[in-house]
Amino acid sequence: MPDQSRLTDPEFLRHSVLDFRQMSTFVQAPLIFERADGVHYWDIHGKHYYDGISGIFVVTVGHNNRRVIEAIRAQMERICFAAPLHGTNVPAIEFCDLLARIAPGDLNTVKLLSGGSEATEAAMKLARQYWKQAGVPTKYKFVSRYYGYHGATLGAMAATGTPRRRIPFEPLPAGYIHIPTVHCYRCPYGLEYPGCHTFCARYLEQIIALEGPDTVAAVIVEPIGNTGGILTPTPEYLPTLRRICDQFNVLLIFDEMITGMGRTGRMFAAETFGVTPDILCLGKGLSSGYAPLAATIWTDRIQEAFWGAEEAGIEFGHGHTYAGNPVAAAAGMASVSEIIERDLPGRAVEMGTILQARLEAMAQRSGVFGEVRGKGLLWGVELAQDPGAKIAFPPHLRIGKRIGGEAQKRGLIIRHDPDWFALAPPLVVTEEELDAMCTILEESIQAVLARI
Ligand SMILES: Cc1ncc(COP(=O)(O)O)c(C=O)c1O
Repeated sequence: MPDQSRLTDPEFLRHSVLDFRQMSTFVQAPLIFERADGVHYWDIHGKHYYDGISGIFVVTVGHNNRRVIEAIRAQMERICFAAPLHGTNVPAIEFCDLLARIAPGDLNTVKLLSGGSEATEAAMKLARQYWKQAGVPTKYKFVSRYYGYHGATLGAMAATGTPRRRIPFEPLPAGYIHIPTVHCYRCPYGLEYPGCHTFCARYLEQIIALEGPDTVAAVIVEPIGNTGGILTPTPEYLPTLRRICDQFNVLLIFDEMITGMGRTGRMFAAETFGVTPDILCLGKGLSSGYAPLAATIWTDRIQEAFWGAEEAGIEFGHGHTYAGNPVAAAAGMASVSEIIERDLPGRAVEMGTILQARLEAMAQRSGVFGEVRGKGLLWGVELAQDPGAKIAFPPHLRIGKRIGGEAQKRGLIIRHDPDWFALAPPLVVTEEELDAMCTILEESIQAVLARI
């Protein structure tokens, strides 16, 4: 390893740019990971951290999984690259077959890709091309939700509904409509569940009718929204979206970057909530982070519009150099096999129940948890100065960010925003490790509250 003082020298580090980070701050106290195992990280100084967020909702099978590493190593000895323009390769075919078998309903056609933004872009391009080839070429619009996040490229960003991620890049591509999300603790319509009869989902009916059903190609949503604080739908929400999409002949796209691969207690949130989309986007936990890997999966009905004679020119007009990369596919195959054979979705339920109980107990003691919400091993806490009255902390306190920073100092990495934080450890986490994480979290909350 290069010498530590060089690695942490701001002059040396200034050539790097991290995701969504102010680098002038980062270089003052850089976090430089050196190795990892299970739910543990160590930085270059040897300091230990618990990984409370699976990298960033990625490392489903835990760090340093030998099966995945050996599968990658073995694949690298055979072939590392094959151009998807010319042919496919053994692990890519096997992995597509595995995904088609485990994906719900007739989601049987798989396009392998390298990252989440590629998967959502591909889904939206697929939807537009589908309608052109299915005889309704006027269908081009996408409906997505405020607070939704679908990626960093321009199309995915246009579907994204988080102002600070969108506004710097406007004007974004046309044809994207946003509706408020499901957020029972702070209902955008001022309604109360269940008396609202999930109006936030039913509202889609009006939007599609007003936009013109013949202009709307698809609705794209994360089954559980990350941004905004693990926004978890009511049981009726996703079935209602499905019903409305069917009513207007609009495709439903699930962006399961975070909720897929066992995270919510079933392999896909589609199964957790009993709703099958027309297009399913996967990434992050698909390879558990051992190689860049994502997938867009669609139904037989959609695939029929792309299957025909060569001269018809109806093949899906989309591709990337690394699509179906053999090393990434081998990583995905090994990671998904681990998830299935070790029943990690079942573990997500078991450990998630424990984590939920710990967070709810912490809510009582801290007095600043507005809502604890989530499913499986995906949990978010919305912070509030007065939880009963739903009064938020003054924004300048950036309370969630401070809790996240304090936790990092004390050796726990979580996802944090000004008014919420999230925990989603690898699905292999043990009860003892969860307890250790919760102890650090609670101490961090107390330390921050003592200072405001
Ligand atoms: C729900 C969702 N969709 C899409 C993406 C984009 O994935 P990537 O960063 O791999 O491009 C993310 C990334 O955080 C995500 O959380």
